[in-house]
Amino acid sequence: MVVTHPGRMITNLETGTRIDEVAAGIYRICTPLDVIPGGFTFNSYLIADDEPLLFHTGYRKLFPITLEAIGKVVPVSKLRWIGGSHFEGDEYGALNDILAAAPEATPFGSEIGVLTSLNDFAARPARGFGDGEEFSIGSRRMSWLYTPHVPHGWDCGILFDLSTRTLLCGDLFTQPGANMPPVTESEVLTASEGMRGMMDYYAHATSTSAVLERLASLQPSMLACQHGSAYRGDSALLIRELATTIESGNTELSERTRVVTA
Ligand SMILES: [Fe+2]
Ligand SMILES: [Fe+2]
Repeated sequence: MVVTHPGRMITNLETGTRIDEVAAGIYRICTPLDVIPGGFTFNSYLIADDEPLLFHTGYRKLFPITLEAIGKVVPVSKLRWIGGSHFEGDEYGALNDILAAAPEATPFGSEIGVLTSLNDFAARPARGFGDGEEFSIGSRRMSWLYTPHVPHGWDCGILFDLSTRTLLCGDLFTQPGANMPPVTESEVLTASEGMRGMMDYYAHATSTSAVLERLASLQPSMLACQHGSAYRGDSALLIRELATTIESGNTELSERTRVVTA
């Protein structure tokens, strides 16, 4: 398969959509949108391999823009896997449009996601991956991790590229802002906690710490966030700091609740 390596480029001057290779063969397609004050970015990740994989389709309304960007790396018709973390517009909105342009592609998500939404929404039958299930896309293996309610949605799961140890972590570490570098080596927890303070996008699940500890134990080399920069550095440390921050917030909350209800 012919793959061009664009390195980094703006693919649409009007929207400011850009594409950057953030790890070997992993391309971040980023479109900023004015949805909150200060702006916000929406990322899809395209993994170029024998069976090219797209993680997050982007909004349906952005389909032509996303399509244009994908085509800079691989012919869209060659896509074989199209998936997302959980069923929302920015994760799956353009799924059917992209499936129409990629006749050999299989939509995928968690087993619960397929049961509750994907097999109803998708134009073709979807593949539901079980927790820990691995699959090959050519030269690399991907592992699906079921992360119910972390950060939200009981269908939530994320994808781990075992060859580059990149964790395609969806909405974890969501950072606000429009002009972020594609990759940062500065911690992204402060920014994502700022976002969580503004909009509490985490489900209040009892299993959050255990799920995060499991992700940390993978020792990812990169957190490929859906909103904001991808983080390269000690991801395990950052994930554990996130768990501690959430836990201490939950303790405060339950203490306040105890006082109110006493
Ligand atoms: Fe989400
Ligand atoms: Fe999202």
